[in-house]
Amino acid sequence: MENIRRREWTDLDYAGWCEFFEENDRHRLDVEALDDVKITGREKRLLASSVKAFCKGEHSEGSYLRHAAAGFAQRYKEVSYPDAIELFIREENFHSAYLAVWLRRHKMTLARHTVLDRIFRQLRRLFGFRSEQMILVTAEMIALTYYSALAQATTSPALQRICAQMLHDELPHIVFQSYSIGHYRQTLFLRTYRRVMMELTTQAVYLAYKPFFLKAGMSLAEFRAENLGYLVQSQEIAGEVAGHESLEGFV
Ligand SMILES: [Fe+2]
Ligand SMILES: [Fe+2]
Repeated sequence: MENIRRREWTDLDYAGWCEFFEENDRHRLDVEALDDVKITGREKRLLASSVKAFCKGEHSEGSYLRHAAAGFAQRYKEVSYPDAIELFIREENFHSAYLAVWLRRHKMTLARHTVLDRIFRQLRRLFGFRSEQMILVTAEMIALTYYSALAQATTSPALQRICAQMLHDELPHIVFQSYSIGHYRQTLFLRTYRRVMMELTTQAVYLAYKPFFLKAGMSLAEFRAENLGYLVQSQEIAGEVAGHESLEGFV
């Protein structure tokens, strides 16, 4: 498991996050230019369903997120938040595009719909923006563990390079989202909600792509331990932000 509690991230406010995302945007991956090998039909069958699902899940039009971000910015007097969310959506869409280019290059079609994506999208809107933020960060943590496993499971150097880029980008995303969640009072209910959400999605994702995880050498217990480890770090970051004086008036 990676340590996401890096000072250069945990010290950022939303203006700082905008600068961070803008800088990251100058170093995008050119997947077309990456060297690659032909992968076997067996490997394709093993990877296809989960790679397609994450390709779909990374993509977002962002219309609900933008709308909700404007409300959050107004309520918590965070004027830079909508800009940070705009840059965040852009980065996530690049992730989707990386995987889409790789899938097409290996003659695999993109998924129009996946069951997990539908569940995530419905859940995100069910209980308002707080819930959306918590589900988003849950998905980020699961994605982090998934891309680590994917790098192990594939023989494609291009896909391994994409996974490395995903890890590079997703680690700070968790800190960014945890910072936002830290604007809320860290009640027992909120912490329990996040834990239950993580437990359920961990089980659902593992069950949905079990053959892939087995090939990657990752058991359900290991997948769960990684995800819960990230959740603990995320809760710690949110707890520190919530305890910060400058935000006390808003929680
Ligand atoms: Fe992503
Ligand atoms: Fe992300």
